[in-house]
Amino acid sequence: MQPSTTGADRYAVIGNPVSHSKSPQIHAAFAAATGQSLEYTAILAPLDEFPQTVTAFRQQGGRGLNITLPFKQVAADICDQLSERVRRAGAVNTISFNNNELYGENTDGVGLLQDLQGNLECEIDGRAVLILGAGGAARGIIDPLFDAQPGQVCIANRSLDKAHLIADAFKDRGHIKVSGYPALAGQGFDIVINATSLSLGNELPPLPAGVFKPGALAYDMMYANQPTCFMDWAMQAGASRTADGLGMLVEQAAEAFYLWRGVRPETPPVQALIRQQLG
Ligand code: ATR
Repeated sequence: MQPSTTGADRYAVIGNPVSHSKSPQIHAAFAAATGQSLEYTAILAPLDEFPQTVTAFRQQGGRGLNITLPFKQVAADICDQLSERVRRAGAVNTISFNNNELYGENTDGVGLLQDLQGNLECEIDGRAVLILGAGGAARGIIDPLFDAQPGQVCIANRSLDKAHLIADAFKDRGHIKVSGYPALAGQGFDIVINATSLSLGNELPPLPAGVFKPGALAYDMMYANQPTCFMDWAMQAGASRTADGLGMLVEQAAEAFYLWRGVRPETPPVQALIRQQLG
């Protein structure tokens, strides 16, 4: 890790692995578009040296960090202050260094909601939403999802106990129905969000027929340079449209940028740029 040579404010994404991260390109585009002087790099932290890597970055004048896998949970442990959203999600994806204190926030869920409602013009109010998966990715989107007042929220997971834990953790926000995959047959949802890690391995969640209502959106939180296997399957299984998680990635970054810089960047041109770079 080298100190800044330009004198610009320093930010970075920390992960392991991290070389695939699009965050440096996204934040560079935000900085150029808003006239902010900053430097944003990717830092590979050894698996057992996350806290030390954060401390070193801060001592070298770092102003803020994005946190990616596998450090989102441990990041919550090293922060001095956490947002209410992080306390519920149990995961931090953005750290700000404020007056020597580490403030932990999670912008993933807000990013998803911004992509759904802003970019995709998807109505959530009163609609039936199905979330596939009950890991960290699913947990991080529940709180902002309830802000959008869905009519029904259901979590389907292979291990039901993990889905029940999430339903219990958020029960003051609203009722979450828990289901195994086979029991979803014929139930019909307006929005189906794939929050499992399966698309990474080109695999599908074991969904039965009849999960999509007419007009339904199938959203995969993963993204690639072509539609994911979940998106392809969804179109054949009755979804009216699909989207991948690139929009969410750019929107969560915009929220982090706003937190750090107080300036909200335009996201559609940056999403188009990153999509183009994916090839
Ligand atoms: P993340 O933090 O990215 O959400 P995770 O906590 O490992 O990652 O969660 C991965 C999710 O994908 C889980 O919901 C997991 O289901 P289980 O809780 O039953 O393990 C889901 N998943 C992974 N492989 C799966 C498979 N082969 N079939 C169904 N679900 C799977």
